[in-house]
Amino acid sequence: MSVPSIIAALAIPIILDRVLFRSKDPARTSRIPHSKERVVIIGASSGIGSELARVYAQRNAHVVVVARRLQLLEELVQELSPVAGSIHVVQGDVTSPEDVRRITVESLKALQGGIDTLIICAGAISVLPFEELAGIDAAKADNAPTTLESDADFSHLMPTNPQAALEASVRIMNVNYHAPLNLTSHFLPALTRTSAAGNIVVVSSMAGKLGAPTRSIYCASKHAAQGFFDALGMEVERTGVHVGIVSPGTVDTDLRQSAVDLPKPGSSTAGSDGSEPKKIAGTKKGAMTARACAEGIVRGSDLRQQEVVMPWFYSVSIALNLITPGLVRWLAKKKYGYL
Ligand SMILES: NC(=O)c1ccc[n+]([C@@H]2O[C@H](COP(=O)([O-])OP(=O)(O)OC[C@H]3O[C@@H](n4cnc5c(N)ncnc54)[C@H](OP(=O)(O)O)[C@@H]3O)[C@@H](O)[C@H]2O)c1
Repeated sequence: MSVPSIIAALAIPIILDRVLFRSKDPARTSRIPHSKERVVIIGASSGIGSELARVYAQRNAHVVVVARRLQLLEELVQELSPVAGSIHVVQGDVTSPEDVRRITVESLKALQGGIDTLIICAGAISVLPFEELAGIDAAKADNAPTTLESDADFSHLMPTNPQAALEASVRIMNVNYHAPLNLTSHFLPALTRTSAAGNIVVVSSMAGKLGAPTRSIYCASKHAAQGFFDALGMEVERTGVHVGIVSPGTVDTDLRQSAVDLPKPGSSTAGSDGSEPKKIAGTKKGAMTARACAEGIVRGSDLRQQEVVMPWFYSVSIALNLITPGLVRWLAKKKYGYL
């Protein structure tokens, strides 16, 4: 098979898919002009979420910013009040069911009873290799007893900290998967009934598409969100609500520093007890800015794109993963220092 025919064989299904099956709705912005759009941004106190607030405020939208760190939200409101159509703070923890209900009620109140766009951007990450987190110490197994005693408890084969891995997983799944699901339950009725073209936009990650070493729990949570919102988008399409999933690669924010499996700054385990501070694998070289990422998310929402992969060339990795998964794994291992 010649190279041009291989390229054609790959390109034709991609083009047909885009033309025939990928819905886009560029007319949304004429049905909902920028200055009339009512937007709730979950996870807006820093990083990508606060840039999303800036982009929407600068086009005069009506914005609600939600997160736990009240002071950061209030500073954002102070900065953006002069340009936004209106901007309001709702403080809350999205992993708390009571808070999610209150966040929904207060947001709808602030937006005069309706919503057009829900952006779920809150997220949590873990950055330690799974074996390190769970205390799976290969050296200990080398000290195994040479004979098998009748009361052997196999302690030399047990992890020393399985609870830490489980707890990290529960925390991350709660923020990255259960909270988006619960927020969707709460906001979906209002999106269906009060908007001419309601949008749910979920900020997932390339970690929702491909695996990466040291990010196993994070990848699991983003894969879960990808599956849920993929399926939900098909279910609710008939109601007029659109579901978009955004998968950025590395973005230059402080997400990694707040990883659930790192000691909190100032805690006795944050390197101050003489232990080495934990090293975070994965280069940030070539990371996109939070602003560029936010602009891409807003563009995807305006066009009602089902999938946005940023930067665009990461789409190539997703396609390559089907054809040459070994190469994609090699690239991921290289990025995270596992070669
Ligand atoms: N940075 C990257 O390289 C990258 C790449 C791909 C995808 N993403 C995704 O982008 C999203 C935003 O991350 P970021 O990079 O902008 O990091 P960030 O600056 O740490 O932002 C995380 C946001 O989530 C909020 N949040 C976390 N837990 C919350 C909770 N329980 N309740 C309410 N809000 C909560 C935080 O606010 P409070 O702490 O004030 O509550 C903060 O506003 C995440 O979903 C992340 O997975 C990031």
